[in-house]
Amino acid sequence: MAKPAPQFVCNSCGAVYRKWQGQCDGCGEWNTLAEEAALSVAGPAAKSLGATRGRSIQLAPLAGEDRPPPRAASRIGELDRVLGGGLVPGSAVLVGGDPGIGKSTLLLQATAAFATAGARTVYVSGEEAMAQVRMRAMRLGLSDADVQLAAETNLRDILTTLDELRPDLVVIDSIQTMWADNVESAPGSVAQVRATAHELTSFAKRRGSAVIMVGHVTKEGQIAGPRVVEHMVDTVLYFEGERGHQFRILRAVKNRFGPADEIGVFEMTGAGLAEVTNPSALFLGDRDEGASGSAVFAGLEGTRPVLVEFQALVAPSTLGTPRRAVVGWDSSRLAMILAVLEARAGVSFAGQDVYLNVAGGLRVSEPAADMAAAAALVSAMTGEALPPRSVLFGEISLSGAIRPVAQPELRLKEAEKLGFNTAYVPKQMKPVEESGIKLRRIADLPDLVTTVFDP
Ligand code: TYD
Ligand code: MG
Repeated sequence: MAKPAPQFVCNSCGAVYRKWQGQCDGCGEWNTLAEEAALSVAGPAAKSLGATRGRSIQLAPLAGEDRPPPRAASRIGELDRVLGGGLVPGSAVLVGGDPGIGKSTLLLQATAAFATAGARTVYVSGEEAMAQVRMRAMRLGLSDADVQLAAETNLRDILTTLDELRPDLVVIDSIQTMWADNVESAPGSVAQVRATAHELTSFAKRRGSAVIMVGHVTKEGQIAGPRVVEHMVDTVLYFEGERGHQFRILRAVKNRFGPADEIGVFEMTGAGLAEVTNPSALFLGDRDEGASGSAVFAGLEGTRPVLVEFQALVAPSTLGTPRRAVVGWDSSRLAMILAVLEARAGVSFAGQDVYLNVAGGLRVSEPAADMAAAAALVSAMTGEALPPRSVLFGEISLSGAIRPVAQPELRLKEAEKLGFNTAYVPKQMKPVEESGIKLRRIADLPDLVTTVFDP
């Protein structure tokens, strides 16, 4: 019987090679390739592969099976929405985030919530001792939840136990602490993370249990270990937040069973994470209306409208190359807006340091935020505040035109609910229902500067 061919995996980037080599072609690192044992030893079934023709597989008609997959809801609304309405049995979920951001707290609370909703749950911690997990549960007021705890890192032992217990939900905290004894490298290495994630994902499919894996994020902002883990699992959630802020955002970046880009907002309190059902009110909480350099963006996160404040500051630079710093937004997007403002509206930021900040620790990725960012920048430059109680949305093209964006009604409704009475919107926006909000339609950047700043 042919021996399974060995393969070599780069411990730094996860690239796979047939032969060992000193330098990885993928990331350029030296001495990072390690041999990976084949996960499944070829048995008699594998031997006959290719020798005989395969059996045909059974196909089932789709009709009659158009019910959505059954989902288990945790009744933590913010979590269920991000999951697309609850956990799908047999699905594998990866929850990534910086160390200390609150992943263990969130998942312990979620496990307890699923248990209370009637699911059989197991929480495996490879990072904390049983007593520490118990203590955390006590602090969170969850000490009488019906959750099975284990402090274990050997994957073989864990899978043996899980095969007996047949739980509905398994939480693995974290994937970097687990090790499979058929892989010869240290826990947390790419080879180990790949192997353990693969085994846990197949366990989920085989047994119909939902498996949630915690993954730490590296300095570069990737889930340590490989992108391949993200490809393996059904759902990838990121738990993010600024240090020093108490807000935490759970964001779906991939979801085979629901919409991606959905967010759930939580607040870290002394007794764990609390749901925030009205994030706009929170993000705009202590806003100083009438200050220059501030503009409110009527944004959309997934299916939910979220209002956030863009803050800009412009100051004469002492540096040869003026500073451009941005928090919560894309820095190349800022560079583009500055260039378009200069070229199309004659607002120059040459020789000025420019700072842009999205208040509250939210990361905005929608192009619809362009107009709010531009308004904040112009306001910071001129020292003139935007009209009170006003919001903006619209994408800016390189020509300086303001382009329509998705879901204007939802954005306007949310703004109205929070007491705003004026909205600067793209001129080409389709007609929307009359509401209590006055619409000011803006065609392009020069139009924005004249309409907003000298009405
Ligand atoms: P944790 O869930 O351990 O983070 P992770 O698993 O992502 O590494 O959260 C750690 C932080 O959360 C810690 O700095 C303390 C804080 N925290 C609270 O503020 N309140 C609480 O009730 C708990 C349990 C933690
Ligand atoms: Mg933890």
